[in-house]
Amino acid sequence: MSDTIAISDTQAIIINNLDYTLFSWSKQKGIAPIAVKYAKGVYLYDYDDKRYIDFSSGLMNVNIGHGDQRVTDAVVKQMQEVSYITPSCVTKVRGELGKKLAEISPPGLNKTLFTVGGAEAIENAIKLARLYTGRHKIIARYRAFHGASYGAMTAGGDPRKLASDAQQIPNVIHVEDPYCYRCPWGKEITSCSRECVSHIERVIEFEGAENIAAIIMEGESGSSGCIKYPPDYLKKVRALCDKHGILLIADEVMSGFGRTGKWFAVDVHGVIPDMIASAKGITSGYLPFGALIVSDAIAKHFDDKVLWLGLTYSAHAVCCAAALEVLNIYEEDELIENASAMGKYIEAEIGKMKLKHPSIGDFRNTGLLGCIELVKNKITKEPMAPFNAKPEEMTIMNKVAAKIKELGMYTFVRWNYIFVAPPLCITKEEIDEGLSIISEALKIADEYTIHT
Ligand SMILES: Cc1ncc(COP(=O)(O)O)c(C=O)c1O
Repeated sequence: MSDTIAISDTQAIIINNLDYTLFSWSKQKGIAPIAVKYAKGVYLYDYDDKRYIDFSSGLMNVNIGHGDQRVTDAVVKQMQEVSYITPSCVTKVRGELGKKLAEISPPGLNKTLFTVGGAEAIENAIKLARLYTGRHKIIARYRAFHGASYGAMTAGGDPRKLASDAQQIPNVIHVEDPYCYRCPWGKEITSCSRECVSHIERVIEFEGAENIAAIIMEGESGSSGCIKYPPDYLKKVRALCDKHGILLIADEVMSGFGRTGKWFAVDVHGVIPDMIASAKGITSGYLPFGALIVSDAIAKHFDDKVLWLGLTYSAHAVCCAAALEVLNIYEEDELIENASAMGKYIEAEIGKMKLKHPSIGDFRNTGLLGCIELVKNKITKEPMAPFNAKPEEMTIMNKVAAKIKELGMYTFVRWNYIFVAPPLCITKEEIDEGLSIISEALKIADEYTIHT
């Protein structure tokens, strides 16, 4: 008899991945990844043909849904012509994509620098703001994530940076968030004086307006818990920028490309930023890509001055082709309209779930960028797991996440948040399926609530 234990194909795939690759933001032991064989629409399928509904669109990027043949065709066609040329040469597709982005961006943002992903778009936005204004300070929010490269990570306040933050880039200043469910100033949104905005104004005064190049904010908050801005917040921040000659950089990496029911989340707020940093939904994750879209004033400034920015893979022809096709799909399939309608449907359905589940403290969403915040007590709002929870503080949430997975859902679960951000092509029936899985899993969390 042989000592070797037969392992399935799926197990062999997982073992290779665990033995030879590293996993982000995680201890390397004890990981149980889903081995995805193929994916279609809002579903992932593993090697045993188990189906998972993807309720966070991968990392909130696969906006058009998985496995769209139209993108594959566009990519193959481009590869058959040319895959890579140096960014100082041009392709038809690069110019067409630039033109399309100018059409869908807010008025006055007409030129784009293409990058390889979100963090690089942010890095270049920070550099460009400094080059353009001649100022050095950047104001950003604590509860924000802007990417994992050093500059982007410094700009974000997300605690994922804390373990390696000794070498942050200098001159980034953080401000508190307008977290209305847990207002840092103890106010209510209906009666407050927007202390969240006067706080920023005070920080500007302390830091010296003449030193501040830009304020960077997500178009709408994402992985920090979809901390929805009060309706007039971004407008007031824009006004502060205008008053002090500060640029406003909108990080639309997660909130862009239809996720909020508009092309960009700044459109929801009626605000025109000076730059839009974007990635994710631009290609819906079919290929890595990013875009930094800038105002005419910034673009013009570099007509006669050197633009000290560059990347080997800027405007990669194949990524441009994927992006152009994905942008067409948003329009052809009316996905942005669907995101808005389905966002409203989810809001109504989770409203009903709130009555059934004592563990749902809050649900915040803009279109299909949403998250449920779980609490142990609805009155005190004690979180089911704290901010920056240690592994041992995640026991309850880990059980909830395991149940979600067991019942056939993949979604992003972080601290006491469960994300509800499915692909924009999702239907009501698919939403019902997903929410019933979450509802079933929430029964575990409900057991830990304290009724008052
Ligand atoms: C708002 C935001 N900005 C920037 C990034 C970084 O993008 P990337 O991971 O493509 O570098 C992310 C990634 O999740 C994000 O959510």
